[in-house]
Amino acid sequence: MNPTELLELFRTRQSVRAYDTTKIVDNETILNCIEAARIAPSACNAQPWKFIIVNQPELKNKLADLTSSKVLGMNYFTKQAPVLLVVVREKANFSSMVGQVLKDKEYPLIDVGIAAIQFCLQATANGLSTCILGWFNEKGVRNLLAIPRNKRVELIITVGYAASSDIRKKIRKDTSEILSYNMY
Ligand SMILES: Cc1cc2nc3c(=O)[nH]c(=O)nc-3n(C[C@H](O)[C@H](O)[C@H](O)COP(=O)(O)O)c2cc1C
Repeated sequence: MNPTELLELFRTRQSVRAYDTTKIVDNETILNCIEAARIAPSACNAQPWKFIIVNQPELKNKLADLTSSKVLGMNYFTKQAPVLLVVVREKANFSSMVGQVLKDKEYPLIDVGIAAIQFCLQATANGLSTCILGWFNEKGVRNLLAIPRNKRVELIITVGYAASSDIRKKIRKDTSEILSYNMY
């Protein structure tokens, strides 16, 4: 892959909030995206993550309900997605945990975010669309999916085929606002 193609992949990955409900997603394609997440880098190679593919329609809809709030108008779209991927933060290994304490950094949280974006980018390369969700009823999700109470559910990712092929222009800060050379 050349640099232009890769940048194009980053540009076309966008949060999709309207899915084609007539199209199912092949499990092999999801597993291909899981592979991208599996090989993601992590502090001390701790790989502090577990992924749950929720594709059983009734369960998936119950899970989608736990991501939405009618009152706040949050995540109203999630039921349309045929698959939801739940990303659970797992305990890191000893070196990562020691590093966390000594350096006052939440490495596993960073690791989970990297794995999530690798999943989303591979999904984009497969013609799928995603939306990372950080807003959901975490306790409800734990109960629904039998996730142990001491685990954090960090993200849920909607996965499906987009209802429209439009690619939005990215709204981002200008490079001059986020970049400096040599000094802050
Ligand atoms: C950690 C995280 C949490 C997010 N939570 C939500 C969410 O709950 N609902 C939602 O619609 N989008 C959510 N998003 C998507 C962002 O709104 C989106 O990535 C951002 O606006 C940039 O747009 P783009 O992804 O289309 O480039 C989340 C993204 C991240 C990285």
